[in-house]
Amino acid sequence: MRPMGKNISELSGRQGLEENLFEQIGRITKESDKDRKERLEKLADEFLIGKANVYGAASFYDFTREENKGKEIYVCNGSACLTAGTQNKLHAAICDKFGKDKTGEMVCLGRCHENNAFHYKNRNYSGNDINQLDEIIAGRYTTKEKYHVGATGNPVLTRPYGDIDNYYKIWKTALQIDKDALLHEIMESNLRGRGGAGFPMTFKLESCKNTPGDTKFIVCNADEGDPGAFSDRYLLEERPHSVLMGMMIAGYIMGASQGVLYIRGEYPEAVEICEKEIQRLHQAGFIGKNIKGSGFDFDFKIIKAQGAYICGEETALLSSIEGQRPEVRVRPPYPTQQGLFNKPTVVNNVETLACLPWILQNGGKAFAGIGRGKSTGTKLISLDGHFNRPGLYEADMGTPMRVIIDKLGKGFRVPVKAMHIGGPLGGLVPVSKIDDLTLDFESFNQGGFLLGHASVVCIPQEFTLAKYIEHLFEFTAHESCGKCFPCRLGSTRGKEMFQKALNENYKIDRTLLNDLLDTLETGSLCALGGGLPLPVKNALHYFEEELRPYLA
Ligand SMILES: Cc1cc2nc3c(=O)[nH]c(=O)nc-3n(C[C@H](O)[C@H](O)[C@H](O)COP(=O)(O)O)c2cc1C
Ligand code: SF4
Repeated sequence: MRPMGKNISELSGRQGLEENLFEQIGRITKESDKDRKERLEKLADEFLIGKANVYGAASFYDFTREENKGKEIYVCNGSACLTAGTQNKLHAAICDKFGKDKTGEMVCLGRCHENNAFHYKNRNYSGNDINQLDEIIAGRYTTKEKYHVGATGNPVLTRPYGDIDNYYKIWKTALQIDKDALLHEIMESNLRGRGGAGFPMTFKLESCKNTPGDTKFIVCNADEGDPGAFSDRYLLEERPHSVLMGMMIAGYIMGASQGVLYIRGEYPEAVEICEKEIQRLHQAGFIGKNIKGSGFDFDFKIIKAQGAYICGEETALLSSIEGQRPEVRVRPPYPTQQGLFNKPTVVNNVETLACLPWILQNGGKAFAGIGRGKSTGTKLISLDGHFNRPGLYEADMGTPMRVIIDKLGKGFRVPVKAMHIGGPLGGLVPVSKIDDLTLDFESFNQGGFLLGHASVVCIPQEFTLAKYIEHLFEFTAHESCGKCFPCRLGSTRGKEMFQKALNENYKIDRTLLNDLLDTLETGSLCALGGGLPLPVKNALHYFEEELRPYLA
């Protein structure tokens, strides 16, 4: 018997990407109030799937969930806004205007560089924007977000690419080159995935290329959910053609004619920019049928996500596009064998794909010549509002972290005790360790941390670390897909432990906490439950004195 999820993949795939199940669920939950249930049931009938499947998906996401209906404005509850301490005041001001019932929360709007972030009518605001709330409501105010962009070393991703026609010469040339030769170039570059795992890109491309099938997909994972990270957002908004061309090149090599750009719903501006630029590509004849007489067809589909961190995990992301409840899938089969709609699929991160045009233009060897050891090329880094010069930076892999913090970020604005680097599942790096680390996968691993997305959220000296750990457990409990019990239950138990220790006369049993962390680490199916223990263990190791009053 085939697993149920596989059958739903097939049934969802019969409709293909246009008017797909996921988008229709999103539309119905937004539009309908009284007839919502009936419309969702009708949709299930149309797709020949169970009503429970559609209900399971609709009740999962922050934006489609029934209990969140009626929210008009959303306050960011991401880690950087939390440690900046800006959100309580902001929340109060917003509730004053809209009332509690209409005020919701969103997990990280990618405005970590200036905090005070909120979302209203498909637009994000931050910094001093809250002072213009009346103007925003009246539709007379446009956000003036600004952040510093800089580079040290080789600007691979942040360099301006100028005229689009000229830039797409890379694409026109690629279409005339043998696919194996292109693959070889990427192999020589040693490009490793920037989405967290650092997996060599060529392996996936080659595997998918060699898997038989007429229909294949290249999926760009633009669900940048890590609170603190805004590097994918930068690329989508400021360098969209590097991302789009990267997808086209990958698609051409492995034989995929459809590229799916899955962008988080918290980035409405990125969605609009990419939609516009795809139109331009159509007009210029760089995508469509028989592109420039090459015999190759390629087109894009943008999917706007509906608010769920776990959709950044690649198999959950594929289930999400199919309109299934986004639960992490057991591997094998790998997406390159059975991915979207059960077809061979490569999923890559935005930044990984954005490196491809540079690699083809300058050669794989040139890319491999930048960086350190097995970490080649450059890496984007997001620095939060605790830096004197917050912003988005690019540095060669292997650059000392001291250079990034002092030269690029110009040091800390306030006394900082630790940095949470690489998202919620990354390590908690005490400032005393800065001089031991360089910006690359190996250095972070050896130091007992994780490079991840290279986002930096600072924990100021006066911020209670136990409160930060409570936040991490709470985040995981909220975002867990619920497939495996160590994560589903363990994250909630951890949250309760720290909540009680912070608010009541309760001390956490250290043995119990250690058991919980070990169970999460060894028993979780994916890196959400499996990765949460890392920052907690780092905190227990480096900040034992501060945490001691909370422990039995
Ligand atoms: C909980 C969780 C969240 C993730 N979030 C993202 C994400 O937001 N963006 C991303 O590219 N990869 C994310 N990943 C990693 C993906 O599963 C996958 O490894 C990646 O998209 C592959 O692309 P890459 O090889 O280019 O890095 C996440 C993984 C986990 C376990
Ligand atoms: S670890 Fe958590 S998010 Fe990952 S599969 Fe298990 S329940 Fe889902």
